[in-house]
Order: sequence, then structure tokens, then C-alpha cells
Amino acid sequence: LENLTSMENLSIDEVMGLIKRASAFKAGKADFALDEQTFASNLFFENSTRTHHSFHIAERKLGLDVLEFDAQASSISKGETLYDTVLTLDALGVDICVIRSGVEHYYEELVNSDNIHCAIVNGGDGSGQHPSQCLLDLMTIYEEFGKFEGLKIAISGDLTHSRVAKSNMMMLQKLGARLYFTGPAAWYSEEFDDYGHYANLDRILPELDVHMLLRVQHERHDSGESFSKEGYHTHFGLTQERAKMLKPTAIIMHPAPVNRDVEIADSLVESPQSRIVQQMSNGVYTRMAILEAILAGKKAK
Ligand code: CP
Repeated sequence: LENLTSMENLSIDEVMGLIKRASAFKAGKADFALDEQTFASNLFFENSTRTHHSFHIAERKLGLDVLEFDAQASSISKGETLYDTVLTLDALGVDICVIRSGVEHYYEELVNSDNIHCAIVNGGDGSGQHPSQCLLDLMTIYEEFGKFEGLKIAISGDLTHSRVAKSNMMMLQKLGARLYFTGPAAWYSEEFDDYGHYANLDRILPELDVHMLLRVQHERHDSGESFSKEGYHTHFGLTQERAKMLKPTAIIMHPAPVNRDVEIADSLVESPQSRIVQQMSNGVYTRMAILEAILAGKKAK
């Protein structure tokens, strides 16, 4: 890989390769050694716990030198642009920049620049894409079922604002899963029809293999879009009653952070059918596989 910006750019073979390599890292069966000093910098312009820290841990596990970037303490606060910031880090010798920004497609001017040579890994761009989250979700599903073809998967909730949903619908459909979308009609868009069907949650629940919930992203909503917590949970959330309708073999996923008792009942977050904690752990191994593939891509250039 030269960069990782969108799931759109990954083939099925590349995805399966990353999942298998992440599983090998998890099993302690993957050797990796750097042949020269390598620097990674993590630039997070939107808050993050999982993505930021699991990239940091993955970088350290691979032996990279990590330059944490604090936007408040950087020259961004003097008005320097993201482009000029990355140009600078590249000139200083940073090899990989992991970036999260609220600006959709922020990465395009970086990867299309002739003067920026460091790899760009997208840690989330607004409501656009979240490829590393998608890959860790795919790893978690593959660990459970050993396949994607024919799995019935519902992606539920704040589809419009969710970059996780966009990345996952794109790749899960390519991998042969049957996708259903549930949640408020206001958060559904006709463009999602290319990937699956808008469905009634209560009707589809007993058939599902995977119920993937999305965080309600209040920070990206217009004031007219608000729901009460109780109202959302009752109408669209995974309540304790709804969870009883799931097959015993079905799994519950959520990228987190979770709004407990909104998208999912508090008691279900760590329940036996939930894979939410496993998703977080898999994030480290998936990001190790991503970084390794990026370093291999740089070497091959
Ligand atoms: N799932 C996810 O992206 O979590 P963070 O915002 O904590 O990184």
C-alpha cells in the first residue's frame, strides 16, 4: 500500500491479506523487523481514544519512533494549513502520517502532491471514510464466521453522518455480504441503495448474523435532527427485548464510543453476543498490519 485513504481503493485480495496478517500478529505468529529508523506522526484534529491510541501502540509494537502531534501546541495555531504541516513533517523525515480531520477528503491534496512523500493513513475524515475501523470490523467478523459471502448484516442508526458505515457498506457488499440498513429515515439516503436495502429492524433481527450499531453523532447534527435518548432507544436501538430476537449465533458490533442506553442497552455492551471489546483489541493488530503494508509499499517504490 502507498497510502490508506478510502476502502474504495482496496481490492478483496488486499483486504484479505491485511485481515490474515492482523490475525497472525494477534496470534504472535508474525515476525516484523525494521531495517532502518522510521518515524510515524499521529495528527488528530478530531478527538479520539481508540484510533489514536491503537495506532500509537501498533507503531510502538512495530518499533517505529512516534512523534505525537499536538495541534494546539503546533504552528496550526498560527494559521499553518494541514498541507504545510504535512509538507514540514515530511521534510523533517517523518515516514507515515496518520491523520484524523473533520474535513472530508482532506487527504486528496496530500496524496496528489509531488512534494509530499510520506505515506498518509486516514484515521477518519468527517463523515467520509474510516478505513482502519472498517478493517478491524472485517477482522472481527472473519474471526467469527470465517467468511463474508452470504452473511446477513444490518448497519443501524446514524448512517448519514457515519464514516464507519460508508467504509463498511462499500467493502462488505464487495465481499458478498447481504446488507440491510435500519434507523431513522432522515438518516437514510438513496445512495445507500447501491449497497443494500432499507429495512424494518424488528422484521430483520431474527435473520441477522451481524447487527452493527452506529454511534448517534450529535456533534455532526443540525439542531432539527435531535432525538431524545429514550425515544431513539425505544424506536431504533438494540433494547434487551430486541436482543432476544437475535439468533444465538449472531454477534453485536459497535465502533464505539457507545452511547449506552441509546444505540444499545447498557447491559448488552459486554454481553456474550457482543464483540465490542474484541473490536477494540483487534484495532491494534489491524493497524499493525496496515502500517506494515504501508512500509512494504514505501520500500517497493
Ligand atoms: N471507533 C473510533 O473511531 O473511536 P475513536 O473516535 O475513539 O477513535
